[in-house]
Amino acid sequence: MGNDGACGSIGPAARFPVRAFVIHAVHDEEVVIMSGKTLLAGAIALAVTVSGAFAASDPLREKALQQFKPVPSVVPAVKHNAITRTKTELGKMLYFDPRLSRSGLISCNTCHNMGTGGDDNLPTSVGHGWQKGPRNAPTVLNAVFNSAQFWDGRAEDLKAQAKGPVQAGVEMANVPANVVKTLKSMPEYVERFGQAFPGEADPVTFDNMAKAIEAFEATLITPASRFDQYLEGSDSALTEEEKKGLALFMDKGCSSCHNGVNLGGNGYFPFGLVKKPGADILPPEDKGRFKVTKTVSDAYVFRAAPLRNIALTAPYFHSGQVWDLKQAVEVMGSAQLGTELSDGDAEAITAFLKTLTGEQPRVEYPILPVETATTPRPQL
Ligand code: HEC
Ligand code: HEC
Repeated sequence: MGNDGACGSIGPAARFPVRAFVIHAVHDEEVVIMSGKTLLAGAIALAVTVSGAFAASDPLREKALQQFKPVPSVVPAVKHNAITRTKTELGKMLYFDPRLSRSGLISCNTCHNMGTGGDDNLPTSVGHGWQKGPRNAPTVLNAVFNSAQFWDGRAEDLKAQAKGPVQAGVEMANVPANVVKTLKSMPEYVERFGQAFPGEADPVTFDNMAKAIEAFEATLITPASRFDQYLEGSDSALTEEEKKGLALFMDKGCSSCHNGVNLGGNGYFPFGLVKKPGADILPPEDKGRFKVTKTVSDAYVFRAAPLRNIALTAPYFHSGQVWDLKQAVEVMGSAQLGTELSDGDAEAITAFLKTLTGEQPRVEYPILPVETATTPRPQL
């Protein structure tokens, strides 16, 4: 399991944690910096007023809170990987460093661009040697809350995941030994690995590279979407149309697969459960989880896609063949639920999905260490 709210401290009993107060304070442009004590007192006061105000009056929110959770505004804990400042800073450099790729041209940010919702906005990604990969790049934003990574869930966590693209022939096409040689050739990296992994005899390893990237990715969370503000008590955060969309999203059954903090990312289902979409959207050669489990019933099974920031991450589906969000909603209606959604219903659900865009992480572009005489040269 992932780290769903591990450090977000949003137990069902504490729906209005301190962070909720911080977020709203920021949004209202009130005092942002408060002492811990003031913050806590404020949060308690807010919790009391707000919960008192809506508990009796908003069944829609009550229902939604049983299925979804807001994105926490604090970095979640990650299993077996303490998130420290030195590690996240190192991870950020690695994330942006194209020299992890064989060509010296492609970084994680090439396909998971921090400026465009954490993905590349292409149908399927383009990697080493201009090769087209088979699948659409999912966003890295909030990926830490997914219970497994990739469209087919084949990586159990972000650390395992990070080793994949560096080595994938169609992505960064490198080999671990060459990556380690590259990192060791630059004294600043050697020093930073030493600080991030203190006490280790040989800290510059492929494994620690993945750990540092995982730590950085854990910081890529997008709290304070309008939907989360609504969950946390603000009635005016959603319009009537968006509330209608939320109600439909739950009543029609979308939320039976898309739920939890990421509205997805935590379960596997056949794409085309009721009716298979056309071969353009569901290409016959990509059998999804079947490749991972070799189980016949897993043919065309994919992870229910996480829907946070969905308005920023077109085109849609693992094939990346649908550019229009409303059309993606309609495809889901017929493929997964066996219903043709009315135009109005599809419109309302789409409006609701657009409220899932949270505050994008402000990532300052890192200055990377300069290469030395021993840095392996780019191989295009
Ligand atoms: C050439 C483009 C490309 C590059 C470079 C790349 N990725 Fe990806 N990434 C993808 C694609 C495509 C997928 C989906 C693959 C799949 O599901 O089979 C993916 C999936 C992921 C996921 C899973 C997200 C989810 O919701 O399942 C994460 C996290 C991720 N990449 C992080 C990284 C990191 C970290 C790096 C750098 C070490 C990186 N990627 C480099 C294209 C790329
Ligand atoms: C039976 C489970 C299930 C149900 C019900 C379901 N979905 Fe999905 N959804 C999935 C799966 C699985 C995927 C990934 C499909 C793929 O492989 O591309 C997905 C993908 C999506 C995507 C594309 C996400 C992206 O990043 O490309 C959207 C949007 C979406 N669903 C919305 C909805 C809506 C709206 C409803 C209700 C009308 C709904 N889903 C009902 C399982 C489900």
